[in-house]
Amino acid sequence: MNVPVLNLRGITKSFGSVSALESFNLAAYEGEVHALVGDNGAGKSTAIKIITGLHQADEGVVEVLGSPLPHRRSPASLSEHGISVVYQDLALVECLDIATNLSLGGLPRRFGMLDRRRMHKDAQTVLGDLKVRVTDVSTAVGLLSGGQRQIIAIARAVRLNKPLLLLDEPTAALGVQETAHVGEIVDQLKADGKTIVCISHDLEFVFQHADRISVLRLGRTVASRRTEDTTRAEIVGLITGAIRPDEGAVA
Ligand SMILES: Nc1ncnc2c1ncn2[C@@H]1O[C@H](COP(=O)(O)OP(=O)(O)OP(=O)(O)O)[C@@H](O)[C@H]1O
Ligand SMILES: [Mg+2]
Repeated sequence: MNVPVLNLRGITKSFGSVSALESFNLAAYEGEVHALVGDNGAGKSTAIKIITGLHQADEGVVEVLGSPLPHRRSPASLSEHGISVVYQDLALVECLDIATNLSLGGLPRRFGMLDRRRMHKDAQTVLGDLKVRVTDVSTAVGLLSGGQRQIIAIARAVRLNKPLLLLDEPTAALGVQETAHVGEIVDQLKADGKTIVCISHDLEFVFQHADRISVLRLGRTVASRRTEDTTRAEIVGLITGAIRPDEGAVA
């Protein structure tokens, strides 16, 4: 078997008396869409934040292509490790325009000054490539609808062109058409050989686009299935606890 692009082993994390993750494991491979599902509060976003370095795990290791990431690392160093992320709360800067938001972390400069023209052109190209219709990239993100913001946040992460993309609820605020569009983007990234870890409550989306589904319940991995080997009924049962976890899945 290949080395996983992302491998989390024995991740444990508590916030005071709240145990968010307990011996959480996840392995995602090249060219794979790996869905992470579970009820509210199951620990999904915490897992993403541990990968990105926003939170530090109490125990366990995060490996990228077989190398452990440093225990203490800044979220700003994420790109160097080949990872881009769209957080559940998006983390866009509302008072800045679309083009600036898309370029944050890599603003184009010319003669030491911000190259606004290039920034706008880049933004149009990125959005055009992703078939996102935006009339004016100088519109402040704070003026966009929730769904439009979500697409901009996804575009920003895709633009970084990293081997591993983490998406936390990418379709939560989206209508039917935009959800399908995000699905197309995910399929394209997968076809390009990227690894996508995608948290979603939308089981229709998950069953349509994921190769593997891992279920988190009360901070523990209860099962991991290839999508073709499972059903929605089984996944729902694993999420709610109506179906018992796999032997050995809970460490
Ligand atoms: N910064 C924090 N401080 C204290 N408790 C936290 C913090 N972040 C998460 N928690 C707690 O950890 C548990 C897991 O939260 P997490 O956000 O990871 O859940 P989730 O699976 O992403 O849920 P949702 O589907 O609602 O987004 C919850 O009980 C939550 O209250
Ligand atoms: Mg969450």
